[in-house]
Amino acid sequence: MSKQTIERILQSQGFGTRKWCANLLAEGEVSLNGEVITDDRAKFETDALEFSVYGESWLYREHIYIALNKPTDYECSRKPSHHPGVLSLLPEQFTNRDVQPVGRLDHDTTGLLLMSDDGSFIHKQSSPKHHVPKVYIATTHAQVTSQLVAQLLKGVKLNDEPAPLAAVLCEQLGEHQLKIVLEQGKYHQVKRMLAAADNHCTALSRTQIGALKLDELNLAEGEWCYLKANQLAMLKPLK
Ligand code: URA
Repeated sequence: MSKQTIERILQSQGFGTRKWCANLLAEGEVSLNGEVITDDRAKFETDALEFSVYGESWLYREHIYIALNKPTDYECSRKPSHHPGVLSLLPEQFTNRDVQPVGRLDHDTTGLLLMSDDGSFIHKQSSPKHHVPKVYIATTHAQVTSQLVAQLLKGVKLNDEPAPLAAVLCEQLGEHQLKIVLEQGKYHQVKRMLAAADNHCTALSRTQIGALKLDELNLAEGEWCYLKANQLAMLKPLK
């Protein structure tokens, strides 16, 4: 339990600098339980606190954990150069709170992307020691063959990688489509593995991380949702 001034609460939730938040209050843009709060020194319990800014309701969150259904042609970088950044799909406050992607998907990869402002969560999820399987559906230029599947399961040598990298699971889904499950998250890993096996990835989508399935989140492309505790608990190695 912790009580904080409303000005501090607004600032922590990404509504701007202290001065900006004090102005929001002075202008009567912030309310709590239907009551407009203008006193920037007023203190409130943050647990389960609901407040509204410009008439829009928000729940106080110490940290933010999000799943985004990433569309193609969005960059995961914080300073995107050729396409809009994924942060532009989220409320502006989230950028102020330093929400960032957990690992990266290429600009042309679609699907499940986790985002958070919790540094230790991001670090843990991105750590090579944390063997969380990630499921991808890849479309290939050349036909998928049983040799290709066998090669990806056995491991392929990539430049800059000391040891061959293997899929933990690989399954043909169609003539030009396969499901590939990886536990590492190396740069362009699926595309480079397919290229190393003499094929070429023409489209890529991530459909699952740990036991969390994009399908079950019911998100249209470009939509996001907060992750609940039970969903966060799914982001771990599968036994
Ligand atoms: N592997 C890739 O090649 N690209 C991605 O975006 C994710 C995994």
